[in-house]
Amino acid sequence: MTMAFYITTPIYYVNARPHLGHAYTTLVADAASRFRRMRGEEVFFLTGTDEHGDKIVRAAEKEGLTPREYVDRVSRLFRDLWPELAIAPDRFIRTTEPNHQAVVARVLNRIHQAGDIYFSEYEGLYCFGCERFYTERELVEGKCPDHQVAPERIREANYFFRMSRYQSWLVDHIQRHPDFIRPERYRNEVLAFLREPLEDLCISRPRSRLDWGIPLPFDERYVTYVWFDALLNYVSALGWPDGKLFAAFWPAARHLIAKDILKPHAIYWPCMLQAAGIPLYRHLHVHGYWKVEEGKMSKSLGNVVEPLALKDRYGLDAFRYFLLREMAFGLDASFSEEALVQRLNADLANDLGNLFSRVLTMAWKYLDGIVPAVDPETARQYGLGLGPEAVRTASEFERAMEAFEFHRALAAVWEFIGRLNKAVDLSAPWELAKKKSTRPQLEAVLASLLKGLRLVAGLLYPVMPQTAARMQAQLGLDPNAPFYDLEELKSWKPFPAGTRLGKAIALFPRVERGEEPEPEKTSASGPAGSPERPPLKPEIGIEDFLKLDLRAATVLHAELLPKAKKLLRLEIDLGERRTIVAGIAEHYRPEELIGRQVIVLANLKPAKLMGVVSQGMLLAAGGETGPVLVGPEKPVPPGSPLK
Ligand code: MSP
Repeated sequence: MTMAFYITTPIYYVNARPHLGHAYTTLVADAASRFRRMRGEEVFFLTGTDEHGDKIVRAAEKEGLTPREYVDRVSRLFRDLWPELAIAPDRFIRTTEPNHQAVVARVLNRIHQAGDIYFSEYEGLYCFGCERFYTERELVEGKCPDHQVAPERIREANYFFRMSRYQSWLVDHIQRHPDFIRPERYRNEVLAFLREPLEDLCISRPRSRLDWGIPLPFDERYVTYVWFDALLNYVSALGWPDGKLFAAFWPAARHLIAKDILKPHAIYWPCMLQAAGIPLYRHLHVHGYWKVEEGKMSKSLGNVVEPLALKDRYGLDAFRYFLLREMAFGLDASFSEEALVQRLNADLANDLGNLFSRVLTMAWKYLDGIVPAVDPETARQYGLGLGPEAVRTASEFERAMEAFEFHRALAAVWEFIGRLNKAVDLSAPWELAKKKSTRPQLEAVLASLLKGLRLVAGLLYPVMPQTAARMQAQLGLDPNAPFYDLEELKSWKPFPAGTRLGKAIALFPRVERGEEPEPEKTSASGPAGSPERPPLKPEIGIEDFLKLDLRAATVLHAELLPKAKKLLRLEIDLGERRTIVAGIAEHYRPEELIGRQVIVLANLKPAKLMGVVSQGMLLAAGGETGPVLVGPEKPVPPGSPLK
């Protein structure tokens, strides 16, 4: 039976733009989803936006917009951010969707009819920032601990959910299910809180005070308290009460949150589910807070970290790697660009990047870029003994990913990378290449290192999908095939002999703080990565196109241009003989071009390159590993125009 995995992030308030904290939680959900897919599990990953309540009304007023206009605008910022970060949720829910509103009304009716909602006059201390009443003992020096303002005393008649009735049941459930709330520290925190009497929860707001919410189905003068509305997104998104999605995924539900919203998720939500007759979720995974310069990240402090700016500056995968490597899930972490740059240079450029380009360079130098066939005995004897370590690495990676210990999973991969780097130094393939007698050994060593790289690429996929795809492509493996199969990776199978490798590339150029990495000449594409393509150019008319004289031509002769690393001099036949200089020497050997047909822009003004006049330009597509020449599908007479 296929396992199901349902993971949710908090639905984010639309009163502020997305920042690093939102990106982190959503990234964790994405990496966990990718990991589960590698294990063949059925995955449903949900995120979205929380759009009702006074916070939103006040934010909209500030912008001079209606709440509806405002929520549409900010919700879109969240929705559009995720693909930019290669985060691929299966569903993006908004609490303003009619389906969700209908589910909220239905649940309220159920609980009301069951007698767990009552009407009562209440006077209490209300924090407008938190949108909730506080008890005296929750305040710190008389102030709301989150907003540091004294709450206002207000008196209102409201509807209450009889949460107190569920207290001992909840304590019992948490005690009987040690993995209900993880890590342990947050479970303990919840149990400690539940040692004091639990109060009933006020679940309505008079419409006279707040109109932007879901009306109570049994009293139109009130709207639903925003938390009661928001938590239900986790079931409304699956089509509760019916629907295949609900049946398949709800029993496997895991909520992912930061510690700020522990109480609503660990206390209100289970009680609501129990009162509504809906089975409980399985796990609550709680992480710590990203701090900036040891302080809280907040809009008012002006120290909000913008995920997109970082991604643009340092690259998407470096950003994803840093967040998951730096924070020990469950604990707070501090964010700094220095730390990011340090990890980028040390872990990515040095350890991983160097290893990758070293091994590929040697594979080209000594094996012509083709994976050799190594018999099992030679592999055992000279294969550097990497097999058992590879299996250990993959198992530790799997254990840690499953336990949401992302930093440990990555540390295990880096330990293996370190081991591979050492293996290169110890086996010294450059020495083995000097003698014919050590050829089998050389082949076994390089084949084993390539296998190691394949494992690393696969294990990096959940965290760095684009890098995994680039590595796969250079290793001659199809980056788009369903290749990231954890079982297969763990099996340490031989690398298919005869595989043609791509050239060595720099996966991660080194950077200084604030400096952007050199733009990559090649683009990354893969199962999840959106290829970095330049924007489309402005529209042109056919008359502009007709100005280009594009011709098919045959390469008659090709040679390296002395002293120019990147240039080839080609003699071509396009009905007449021409000389063309092309910057493809790093990607094509002269001899593989002779006799081949290419497409040439024939009426480009001649230009002198390294002393040679180039009379036209070859056309190539920007491929994964460098330019890829384009040519006619079948041979055509030289000089045939393109139409
Ligand atoms: N709308 C509610 C959640 C309702 S869920 C039914 C809400 N929204 S929020 O926009 O404030 O998002 C809070 C969540 O954003 C945190 O739980 C966490 O996932 C993420 N983070 C916001 N700031 C963060 C940090 N500084 N560090 C880590 N995560 C943070 O609460």
